[in-house]
Amino acid sequence: MRSRSSICGGRSTRCQASVACFIIIAVVLATFLYFRFRHHAPPLSAIHKRRVSMRGCDGNIEVYAQDFVVLHYAKHVHGDHFAVPCSGPLPWYRFIYQWGRPSPLQTWIQHLHAYQPSIAESNKAKHATDSVYVIQRIEAHNLYHTLCEWMNVFIVSQILKLNTSNVDIMFIDDRPYNSLESVWRTLFGNVYSHNATDKGIVHRRIVWNMIGYISPANNHDLPELPYIEEFQTFVLDAYGIKKRYHIDCKNVQVSIIYRRDYITHPERITKMKGLVQRKFRNELEILSSVKVAIPLSTVTTLVLEEMSMREQLSVMANTDILIGMHGAGLTHVLFVPDHAVLFELFPNHHSQEIYKHFRTFSKWRFLKYIMWQNDNDALEFDDLSTYVPPEVIIEKCRYIRRYLCS
Ligand SMILES: *[C@@H]1O[C@H](CO)[C@@H](O)[C@H](O)[C@H]1NC(C)=O
Ligand SMILES: *[C@@H]1O[C@H](CO)[C@@H](O)[C@H](O)[C@H]1NC(C)=O
Repeated sequence: MRSRSSICGGRSTRCQASVACFIIIAVVLATFLYFRFRHHAPPLSAIHKRRVSMRGCDGNIEVYAQDFVVLHYAKHVHGDHFAVPCSGPLPWYRFIYQWGRPSPLQTWIQHLHAYQPSIAESNKAKHATDSVYVIQRIEAHNLYHTLCEWMNVFIVSQILKLNTSNVDIMFIDDRPYNSLESVWRTLFGNVYSHNATDKGIVHRRIVWNMIGYISPANNHDLPELPYIEEFQTFVLDAYGIKKRYHIDCKNVQVSIIYRRDYITHPERITKMKGLVQRKFRNELEILSSVKVAIPLSTVTTLVLEEMSMREQLSVMANTDILIGMHGAGLTHVLFVPDHAVLFELFPNHHSQEIYKHFRTFSKWRFLKYIMWQNDNDALEFDDLSTYVPPEVIIEKCRYIRRYLCS
């Protein structure tokens, strides 16, 4: 081992002082980096400012930049009208357009009423329920967009230090029933519609949450997605599902998602004649090509609409290779094991710049991502399906098998 005198040549105390100084700086820097990254601290760009940017009504209103608003001891009046204890005038705040539409938070703050704080005081003790998130769903039937909404509840709960499993959800929209509603009920506390609230109740905390489109999960330019691993654990735990940690190369688990024309999608049934885009023309040929490329495998084909979320997640948590055409079902790449590979396929004329949702999810999870896009119009069909040449499947799947198993 080198002694200190050999570093300094045994000459000056000034040199020894600068070595000591260097060591102190290194220790301080290492400590800073340790605390900065220990919790995988989310980048500030994700939730733009995770601090209150405006406070009103004696602290009963807290606005977090453009992202969300917290009301304390507030009541639901009707529709998107709420009342907050306030002795002075109600504050004003400008929420910007995002994703080409006005923020619902702008309407909600315009519809905000004040009520006498003295009444609030007497109510606090008696009627306060805990935290409720007010949510305007947009594409409530779509797994990707709905997951962005779940993620928003999760991230905001981390910021407000709330137990996500316990928070209540109030839908402020009139979306028709869809199968994802049961997932909301599994993940969170009470889930109800704005027309079914007890108007007398004072809520300890009401969170007006951001819409799904402005979720960090929908911001594909972010270098990382805050809390991505914690969110995965949260969802799998809610369903009691254990993630697999090792691949068995003598029995590789491959899952192929098949897309079906719309069943549960209220708008599309009329607007697009119920046809879903990006289907495989030759499902059976694709299945047998996967088996040719990876003989030691179990290949599961999935029509997600026919499965419960518990069934979907238990397949995903055990999938080594997930294969599918670009579509909301590939959102499940968030729930596959850490070693898994995503193989995503695209029809012709699909811009890689726009359709980068799942490439980005894979990047955020450090998963291997493989892509193929058709460039031959003769392989596209009127029912919006694409013929995928078997040699494409065989070549890509052989590559993936080598990547995973050699
Ligand atoms: C959060 O709430 C759930 C459901 O009530 C409970 O099982 C869990 O222990 C709570 N977690 C923490 C950290 O308090
Ligand atoms: C409340 O709204 C939901 C969704 O629009 C609807 O299904 C339900 O019937 C309504 N309930 C009442 C009591 O009006």
